[in-house]
Amino acid sequence: MSQARILDVGCGVNKLPGAIGVDRNPRTRADVLCDLDHFPYPFRDNSFDRLQAIHVIEHLSDVLRAMEEFHRLVRPGGTVFLATPHYTDFSSFCDPTHRWHLNSFSFRYFGADNAGYGYYSTARLREKKVKLRLLALWRYLGFELLVNASPRFRRFWEHYLCYVVRGKVMEFEFEVVKTAE
Ligand SMILES: C[S@@+](CC[C@H](N)C(=O)[O-])C[C@H]1O[C@@H](n2cnc3c(N)ncnc32)[C@H](O)[C@@H]1O
Repeated sequence: MSQARILDVGCGVNKLPGAIGVDRNPRTRADVLCDLDHFPYPFRDNSFDRLQAIHVIEHLSDVLRAMEEFHRLVRPGGTVFLATPHYTDFSSFCDPTHRWHLNSFSFRYFGADNAGYGYYSTARLREKKVKLRLLALWRYLGFELLVNASPRFRRFWEHYLCYVVRGKVMEFEFEVVKTAE
């Protein structure tokens, strides 16, 4: 079986072993130096089985355009994995290089019903998994389990509770959907 082709976008110094790393900073473990705010990225369509961007999307100038580029680079049925702070976490605002402060529904424009805004982008990413990590106290009290139990409860938490029961990190796993035009 051939090895999965993995792109680690904004890999920093913690590049995933076996992956191709991309970053703009030459002091990182990047194999390819490029600015992720300039498009297109220097890879062909469908070059990867999996792409990960860990604590990167919040740094980029154009979230929708970057997501479209991730979609272009991954083969149909492949995976895009993102990790990014929830906007109620301390870390979201204590790094002045963060341009965006996101919540667990921030990528819904790429989903099945496009949240009613299908015209924002034609790239489709099927949400396979969304996992919220909460601050330790709330995790010990069982809130993390509840928030992750269903999208419905997560929505309730985002609307009513998250300014008190604060989030920490969000992890998203998407399947890349490409249909013939
Ligand atoms: C918070 S670090 C995360 C690094 C790594 N993914 C990790 O989990 O340890 C963000 C990384 O994104 C890179 N980055 C931010 N903006 C970028 C851009 N416009 N183009 C390329 N890399 C960028 C930074 O150089 C940095 O390595």
